Amino acid sequence: MKRLIISIAALLLFVQLNAESMHSLKRRVGKLAVSQIELMDSELGQAQFPRSLHDDGSLQTSDIKYWCVGFFPGTAWYAYELTGKKSMRRIAQKNTLKIDIEQLTDNHDIGFEVWCSYGNAWRLTEDESYLPAIRRGAERLSARFCPTVGCTRSWNRDKGFWVIIDNMMNLELLEMSSRLFGIEDYDKIARTHANTTARNHFREDLSTFHAVIYDEATGKIEKKQTVQGYADDSMWARGQAWGLYGYTMMYRFTRDTSYLAQARGIAKLLIPMLPEDGIPYWDYNDPAKENGEFCPRDASAAAIMASAMLELAGYVENSEEARMLRHTAEKQLLSLASPEYLCKKGECHGFLLKHSTGHRMRGIEVDKPLTYADYYFLEALTRL
Ligand code: GLY
Repeated sequence: MKRLIISIAALLLFVQLNAESMHSLKRRVGKLAVSQIELMDSELGQAQFPRSLHDDGSLQTSDIKYWCVGFFPGTAWYAYELTGKKSMRRIAQKNTLKIDIEQLTDNHDIGFEVWCSYGNAWRLTEDESYLPAIRRGAERLSARFCPTVGCTRSWNRDKGFWVIIDNMMNLELLEMSSRLFGIEDYDKIARTHANTTARNHFREDLSTFHAVIYDEATGKIEKKQTVQGYADDSMWARGQAWGLYGYTMMYRFTRDTSYLAQARGIAKLLIPMLPEDGIPYWDYNDPAKENGEFCPRDASAAAIMASAMLELAGYVENSEEARMLRHTAEKQLLSLASPEYLCKKGECHGFLLKHSTGHRMRGIEVDKPLTYADYYFLEALTRL
């Protein structure tokens, strides 16, 4: 009996210490985020958005046409949620309002651009002045839906109807708008896109292709290939993470158990493939590492995964699976918050995370900070 009590006490102490360490990680990163976001904001002009760092270490910005404009305001909204600091709310608001929906490039990324900025603004303030931008964003995204293919179009290319796995993320704007504005069609479009993608993007083991190209007139598949991954049949790390997050999020809105099964299957495939620190190499199949060559990590893929797995764990509560999902996400967050990945105060022009990979094959943003890594990192912390 005495032994049992001691074991239970030790277990509770362990759980408590573990919880405290996540609690302190959240506070430490939250505090750092405030000063980094203030620094970043002070370096930006009215029409500028952060993108990454140049090779010489200077800040790389973009104009409104780039797909990442929603992430910096969204990161500031999450920092506001984590810390309650007024400066974060002010910076978040200012950078959200820099986004004029009509100026955004016409592609599927409008979901990221609008939901991460205006969506979080509305979620945290319930200020209705943010709603018209959300409504207009959803309208523009839904206009990209093709019933014959059963998907919203990702990139505008001269040949073929391109759908990339990343596009799953943009369904959140449609699902939220369906509820906010009572437009049932948006929910139907999102479900149809998710069903078509589950059928056509995924291989038998639930790894995913990056892109599926359809014939717009017939809906037939022309080709499955990669653009940002190592090879057509490889597992581009961020693509796998977008898929995991996308189906977890779709389950949140629809309670369709096929989406839950999809997300659980993807997590089951990915978790054993992660390296010791939980941060994936940019493509799970790049042989560079085995050959002793440079093989960059992708901190952004880890942040997206961690955020998704913390949500997914809530849907399989009280199970060994939930514990595994949480344990893996916490391991990833601990690594990201370690000196190896986390920028120090005043460094990196205000970015939080180092070591992400944008487009390895074209040598763009390799082993660099990226806005979406910071965004999903803070989102994951709010979900702890
Ligand atoms: N959606 C573009 C990327 O993940 O790089």
